[in-house]
Formats: sequence, structure tokens, C-alpha cells
Amino acid sequence: MDKSEIQDLSWDEWDELQDPRPEETGFDRVVEAAMSRRGFMGGVLAFGSGAAVMGSGTLATLMSGTSAHAQAESRFAFHPIPIATDFTVHVPEGYSWRPLAKWGQPLFSDASELDHETGGSVKDSDRVFGENTDGMELFAIGGHQVIAVNHEYANPKVNLPKNEDGIPASADDVLKLQNLQGVAVMEVAEGEGGWEIVVDSPFNRRITHNTPMRISGPAAGHDLLKTQADPSGTQSLGTFNNCGAGKTPWGTYLTCEENFNGYFGSTDANFERPAEFKRYGIGLEGRYAYEKFDPRFDISKNPNEPNRAGYVVEIDPSDPASTPVKRTALGRFKHENAACALAPDGRVVVYLGDDERGEYLYKYVSNGFYTPGGDTSTLLDDGKLYVAYFLDNGSGRWVELTPESTGGLGEAEILIHTRLAASAAGGTTMDRPEWVAVNPVSVEGYCALTNNKNRGVKANAGGDETPVGGPNPRAENHYGQIVRWRPANEDHADTAFTWDLYVMAGNPAVHDDAYAGSSNINEGNLFNSPDGMMFDTTGLLWIQTDGNDDNEGDFAGHGNNQMLAGDPVTGRIERFLTGPNGSEVTGITWSADKRTMFVGIQHPKAPFPDGEGKLPRSTVIAIKRDDNAPIG
Ligand code: FEO
Ligand code: CA
Ligand code: CA
Repeated sequence: MDKSEIQDLSWDEWDELQDPRPEETGFDRVVEAAMSRRGFMGGVLAFGSGAAVMGSGTLATLMSGTSAHAQAESRFAFHPIPIATDFTVHVPEGYSWRPLAKWGQPLFSDASELDHETGGSVKDSDRVFGENTDGMELFAIGGHQVIAVNHEYANPKVNLPKNEDGIPASADDVLKLQNLQGVAVMEVAEGEGGWEIVVDSPFNRRITHNTPMRISGPAAGHDLLKTQADPSGTQSLGTFNNCGAGKTPWGTYLTCEENFNGYFGSTDANFERPAEFKRYGIGLEGRYAYEKFDPRFDISKNPNEPNRAGYVVEIDPSDPASTPVKRTALGRFKHENAACALAPDGRVVVYLGDDERGEYLYKYVSNGFYTPGGDTSTLLDDGKLYVAYFLDNGSGRWVELTPESTGGLGEAEILIHTRLAASAAGGTTMDRPEWVAVNPVSVEGYCALTNNKNRGVKANAGGDETPVGGPNPRAENHYGQIVRWRPANEDHADTAFTWDLYVMAGNPAVHDDAYAGSSNINEGNLFNSPDGMMFDTTGLLWIQTDGNDDNEGDFAGHGNNQMLAGDPVTGRIERFLTGPNGSEVTGITWSADKRTMFVGIQHPKAPFPDGEGKLPRSTVIAIKRDDNAPIG
């Protein structure tokens, strides 16, 4: 595979290229597992309503399409829209959208507007809105509205259009890519012409792959985190592959480091990678040639540098001079997002997904208690980390990761090599946990399990089996599903829960088995690969997709990636938005008055949004109702 092709791989494809995993289970076994799942599903105890898997009947009956819920009164204020296959955004009648922030757009007046010939200068690259917009949150701070938003990864062919295949050829090229990623904090305001970035606002800030960070929590200072540049193991530079996000009850931003492994490589082809590197997909060649121009990313010279990435990072959006904090207590893996909840006694609960095939769902519970206005500085440093274990009977429990449950790993090792700890503790291998969302009007959590072509076929990167069953009921799962759980005693800190599947995506026009999808899937709401997910304040679940958009075969009728709204009570799901072909819809937040919804369009193809002959630009759009009523 040549360099150009490598750049076009998804992160999952790239991971598998690093360390190909043998197929461990034969076709017969897959079928057997699927059949036994059918039998099981007829008997699972599901929640009272809105569940994809109901309390009686066979799977075939459950998937038959019509149900009382389908006729239930709609809570949606919009008329659902059809799929699209074009290169722009569509929203329902009575709504309109416009761009708020595009890659390369200045946050400060000393930066230039994007030059479509060059993709912008290195000088401006940390003064503009970054690349690949992803998770975001809006903060109302003293009358100002401030959005913190992730810039997940780079698209070198777009960002370095003068370079052959976009391959970085100099330290400046690498620095430009490093600067275009990370996080932006920007003030926004609504004027005559709609929402705009407040250029030069004192809140505006870019956080990049080189911004100083503090490492905190039980792993801080551990030998595995010490480098030549930081012998203390408590300071680091940069935050990486910032995917989903979260918001703490005390008004800070949580940015989540996902595919951090891709930035590291080795200039020594004979460097022996430790087993932990293989589990995390840290290979000898990085995706962006950082290691060739910036020795910090060369694992043969700085073998501990990758241990300083893969965390949840807390940022105070109200103070642009504040130092972001890497919270090791929340574990190290390919963090998707961080969904916060409060237990009845005030403990802080953070749900966390590790987005790779066959990895785990986690939660953190603080030992201390949140009180409004109280000290919050150690609430994310001192707590318990759990991995989810799902039983086929619809119950489950959170298994605490301790030296006892992980075969004798030390506390810091558990937090640095969390995947190994979770394997040892026997968590349930999941179909790629993407975003978790916590329902604000009912004590329950939802996780988008986006897809997993290896389910029932291959072990995960640590060799853990990925059997068909529980919340991962389909082998070679190309469609994805959303699992939800209700904690015992209506307490997010409780270690027991019950679960069901809110929806299994599928295609009833192509399949008549489990791949048709659950009963709340119909020809009007087809989608695949749920990913971004957030509740609005009314308790509707907004679901964003990042899947196959070729609209053919198994995916015929799915169209482009999209955003749908789901009613947790009735199970009904309707399509609200379609994105441009080639893009993923990811990231959602609302204005303080809820009259505007901000949505991210990541890695579109040209001509979105600037037209033919221009570079495609990841863009945050602002959506309003034409009558200016709240939408969430
Ligand atoms: Fe960055 Fe798992 O999505
Ligand atoms: Ca995602
Ligand atoms: Ca995804």
C-alpha cells in the first residue's frame, strides 16, 4: 500500500494494518452464535417502552416493523426529511442553516482568510479555526457565549494541497498539521446576519499538539510518564485526536483523546515495541510523518511519549491563560467522549467509551462530592474506574479496576494501560463504543456501538474473544446499535444495572433477519453507524452518523451521513438533517436560549461549503427555526 492510499484509510483500517489480527472463529461458529442469540432475544427482559428488543416473541416478530409505538404521538416538532446523496446540508421545512465556523477561518484578526491554493500558512495555523470539527460544548460565561470545539485530526491532502499526496515534507508542514488539530475556544454572537465568531474575543484560544498541559491524578509522576523533556512525568505538550467531548457540572470542557497512537512512529525500523504499544496500535510508522521531523514523536528516542496521550483533558473555557489538565484517573484508551452525570449523593459519574473494535465501555465515579461553588479541583483525580460487564439476561454490572481485579497491576499501571486492566478484569468486548449520552429527564445512559465487522470473527487487539451476544448481537456488524442501561436504585454511581437495545440499525429492504434492524427502523429512517449522540433538555436523543454513505447494497436507502432525533419513550426515530456526501455529522451543542443548534460537518468533500474549485472545509453550522422557537 503506498503512502497516498494510507492517508485515505479510516482510523480502524489503519489500526488493523499496523497489527493485523488473525481470524479466530470459523463461519460455522458465527452462525451458531447468531442462532443462539435469536433464541435468547425472545426471552430478554426489556424496559417498559421504546426498546428495540421487547419482552416477548421471537426476534423475527420483534423485527417485523409495525408496532404500537410507530403510531404513538410524535414529540418531534419537525417533519422528517428524506435521505440525500448530494453535497450539501438539508434540514426540515421551517428550519434553515448557515455556516458558523469553517476550517481556516480566522479567530484573530492577525490571521488571513483561507488561501485555497496553499491551505493557509504555518504562521496562521494556530490562529484559525482548526480542521475536522468534532465534539463541542457551549458555555454561557458572564453574558458571553463561548464554544469549545475539538479539531480531531488532519486531512493532509486538503491541508497541504501543494504537497504530493499531502505528505508532510518539512518541519513546517508538520507544525502546520499539529496546529490545525487540538481544540478551539471561541466566543460566538448572534447579529443581524446570524451567528458569527467574535474575532479577537479575549476568550478565543487555540490549543494544539504543542500546548503545555499538566498531568494529574494517580498516574502523574509515574516512571512510564517521564521523558527527557519532563523528568517529573507531570507536564506534557499537546492534546491529540480530540474526538468527542463533555461538560462538567462546574462548567469546564472535557476533550477526549482518541486515535492518539497514529501520531507516533520510529526512525529506527528495528525498534522493539512493547506489548502495550501493540495493544494501543502504536506502530513504527506514524500517519503524518511527525517522527521524521519532530523527535518527540519518535518512539525509538522517546518511548514514553505515547504514554502521555490517550486521556480526558479538562479545559477551563473561561480562562484562556489556564493550563489544560490531563486527568489520568479516567484511564488511558481511545477516548470517544465523556458524559457526566451526578449521583444522588453528589458523586460525579463520567461514562467513557473506548472506540476500537472489541474494546470496552467504562465509567468513573468520584470519591468526593460535587457541591455548587465548592472545590472541584480533585473531583476528576480521586475516584474509581470501572469496566462494563453485560449479561445476556438484560442485567449487568460495573467491575472496578483494582490490583485485585486486574491480576496485580498497580494503580498507575491500571490508569496508563487501562485496556490491559479491563481485559484482565473480564469486561464485555463491545462493537466500538462511540458517544455516551445521559438522559436528563430519566436516570439512564446510552452508548452508540457504531459497528464492528470483526464481531464474532476476530479477537480484539489484546486477544480477547468477541463472541456474538448481549448488547453486541450480530456477527460482522456493519450497521451498529445503541445500547442503554438503567442504573440500579436510579443512581448512576451504583454498580448494578439493567440494559436493553434502544435501536439496532439495519436494512429491512435488503434483509429479513437481525440485519433488517429493530422494529423502530423503517424505510423512512434508515441509517447506519450511530456515533455522535446527545440529549437535549427536553429528553430527545439526537443521533449523528459516521458510516457507509455509498447508498448501495446493504446500505441502499441510507444516503449520506445524517442526524436523527430519537424519542426514548416511544422508540420512534426520525431524520432531521442530512450531511454532504463524504462527510460525517459529528458534534452538537445549543445556544444558551436553545433557539439555535450548532452541528459539526466533518471532512466533507468539495464543493462543500465554498463551491467548485475550492478546498472542502469542515464546518460548524448554526440551525434555527424560521419562527425562532427553541429547538432543544
Ligand atoms: Fe473520533 Fe470514534 O470517533
Ligand atoms: Ca466519533
Ligand atoms: Ca465513527
